Amino acid sequence: MKFERKADHIDICLNRDVNASRNHWEDIQLLHRALPEIDMGSIDTSVELFGKKLAAPVIISAITGGFDGAESINRNLAKAAAELGIGMGVGSQRPALEHPELASSYEVVKEYDVPLVIGNVGAPQLVEQKKRHAFGIDDCKRAMEMIDADILAIHLNFLQEIVQPEGDTNAAGCLEAMGKVAKQIPVLAKETGAGISRDMAQDLRMKGVKGIDVGGLGGTSFSAVEYHRAVGRNEETLSRLGETFWDWGIPTPLSILEADVGLPIIATGGLNTGLDVAKSISLGARAGGLSRKLLKPATESPEAVIKELEMIIAELKAAMFLVGASRIQALQDTPVIVTGHLSEWLNAMEPEE
Ligand SMILES: Cc1cc2nc3c(=O)[nH]c(=O)nc-3n(C[C@H](O)[C@H](O)[C@H](O)COP(=O)(O)O)c2cc1C
Repeated sequence: MKFERKADHIDICLNRDVNASRNHWEDIQLLHRALPEIDMGSIDTSVELFGKKLAAPVIISAITGGFDGAESINRNLAKAAAELGIGMGVGSQRPALEHPELASSYEVVKEYDVPLVIGNVGAPQLVEQKKRHAFGIDDCKRAMEMIDADILAIHLNFLQEIVQPEGDTNAAGCLEAMGKVAKQIPVLAKETGAGISRDMAQDLRMKGVKGIDVGGLGGTSFSAVEYHRAVGRNEETLSRLGETFWDWGIPTPLSILEADVGLPIIATGGLNTGLDVAKSISLGARAGGLSRKLLKPATESPEAVIKELEMIIAELKAAMFLVGASRIQALQDTPVIVTGHLSEWLNAMEPEE
């Protein structure tokens, strides 16, 4: 089966240790306000993102599509996203673009009224690779139509590609190719666990992308995911690469600060609670994205996904209450304290002067 790797990813993410060694959200604190002076019952978590109104600043980040079990996962996620009025991305649509018979595992999203739907293709697929031709604008449009997407995430996953046996490691020309796509359809540049630096964000903005999902370090490590696959295949060099680069990247909270170049930011990477979502917004993100936290419930039922997301939204509201923010805008203006390891990163990266 051609896309057994997609099923492997789900299995490994459910059953193995794929966490980055540190979850950097522990180093971010919000300042408690003893008398919040707002009514918790009147807190409004709604936010606008890419012209769509979301009931809460929460995105179900890309997980899957293109194999047998993927349809029910995407159905459960889409049903929950529609019910709660939040955004959702699908996993890479490459399997269905290359094998249209696999499209139904993505198309299922169209059956639900999800306020913001995010398509997904990989930057490596936009340029020629060893054994493959590049996807063009027509393929990107097909991906959008497949799920009635509002925006297309182009994922930047070269860390994963270097640890993958079948990895696409030609990155030359990707930025240019993304720029061409961005001229015709709305594009979200999305990392997958190694973060976006300021220079990278500026280059992406110049190419016309509409937003950035920083996909930073601190949660799912795709170097770790591919490490487990490489060990299973006795691929010594790839196992070694996976182990060495397990914690490679820019921590998500720091990447939010780095990638702030005037575009809406989605903060994905190691968010586990609504408090993490609140922290990400205080740092400058428009919404927080969660992927692996929702994977297990997504394999169970829509109710299980809804239950988890309702807890996340309850935690977000509690954090807003305790800092005295009745609107998302006010949460964005809330002071943030950076401690520990992350403050060392921050000091080291601050420009001299
Ligand atoms: C099982 C699994 C599959 C994923 N597949 C994709 C994908 O196809 N495309 C993509 O852009 N990101 C993909 N991701 C990356 C996530 O969208 C996210 O950026 C990353 O996992 C970090 O978030 P987390 O720490 O909340 O898991 C996947 C994540 C998981 C757990």
